[in-house]
Amino acid sequence: MSGPLVEISNLRVDFPSHGEWRPAVRGLSLSLGREKLGIVGESGSGKSVTGRALMGLLPAKARVQADSLRFDGQDLLGLPERRFRKLRGARMGLILQDPKYSLNPVMTAGQQIAEAWATHKRGSRAEARDAAFSLLEQVKIRDPRRVYDAYPHEVSGGMGQRVMIAMMLAPEPDLLIADEPTSALDATVQTEILRLIDELVSARGMGLMLISHDLPLVSRFCDRVMVMYAGQVMEVLPAKDLAHARHAYTRGLLACLPRLDEGQHRLPVLNRDPAWLRPQ
Ligand SMILES: Nc1ncnc2c1ncn2[C@@H]1O[C@H](COP(=O)(O)OP(=O)(O)O)[C@@H](O)[C@H]1O
Ligand SMILES: [Mg+2]
Repeated sequence: MSGPLVEISNLRVDFPSHGEWRPAVRGLSLSLGREKLGIVGESGSGKSVTGRALMGLLPAKARVQADSLRFDGQDLLGLPERRFRKLRGARMGLILQDPKYSLNPVMTAGQQIAEAWATHKRGSRAEARDAAFSLLEQVKIRDPRRVYDAYPHEVSGGMGQRVMIAMMLAPEPDLLIADEPTSALDATVQTEILRLIDELVSARGMGLMLISHDLPLVSRFCDRVMVMYAGQVMEVLPAKDLAHARHAYTRGLLACLPRLDEGQHRLPVLNRDPAWLRPQ
C-alpha cells in the first residue's frame, strides 16, 4: 500500500439546532500514516465527531462536508452505509470508553470475539473458537478459558476493554480509533491497556488515532499530537515536544492539569482567544 491511510482535507461537520447549523468541526485537515496520532482538546472541541465522521458513524441529521475524506485512497464522502459497514468492520476498528455499552450482554466474551472473527474471515466454528483463544492470549488475558466463557458483567472494566480490543483486532484492521479508551479505568489499568494498544498497533503496523483529554498520557504513547479547539486544529506537534508547546491554548491545557501539590480547590481557568480561530 502506498499513500497515507487517512486523508482529510477541510472537513466540516454541522448539527442542526433551532433551525440553524451549529458547527462541530470547522475546516479540519489531517493526514495519517501507519503511526500513532493523539487528538487532544477540551470537552466539546470536536475530537469524537472527527473520529466518527471518518468511520461513518455520525447520526443522519449531521451534515458532513469536506474537500476530501479518504481512507486508503477510497473516497468516504457519500459512501453508502452498506459499504461503510464493510470497511468499518474489516479495516477500521473503534474502541470506546466503556466496554459495558459496546459488548453484547447476552453473549460470552469468547462468542463475541469468535463471531467478530467469523464475520470477516472464512472458517469453521472450531477455527473461529481457536482464533478467539489466540486473540484472548494476544491481549494478554492470563486465563483465556475462563474469560472465553464469561459474560461481560462478569469481567472487570480493564478485562472488558481487553475483550473489546480482541474483537476489534479479529479482522486485522489497518486503523484503530480509540476514543477515550481508558477514561473509565483506574490509573494503573489505564497504563496497562494503553501499553497493550501501543504494542499491538506497533507489532501489526497499524495506524492509531488516540482521542483523549489526557495530554501526558497521549504524549507518552503517541508519535504526534493534534490539538483541537472549537472544531479547529490549533497545532500538530511531535508528542515529545508537547511539554514545550508554544500555542497559548495548548499551554493552557497543560496548565490545567491537576497538580498534586496544589490541592483540589483551585479551579483551572482556560484563557480563550477568538483570534485563534480562522474565519469560516
Ligand atoms: N449527536 C449530536 N447532536 C448534536 N450535537 C452534537 C452531537 N454530537 C456532538 N455534538 C456537538 O459537536 C461538538 C463536538 O462534540 P465532540 O466531538 O463530541 O467533542 P469532544 O471533543 O468532547 O469529543 C459539541 O459542541 C457537541 O455538542
Ligand atoms: Mg469525545
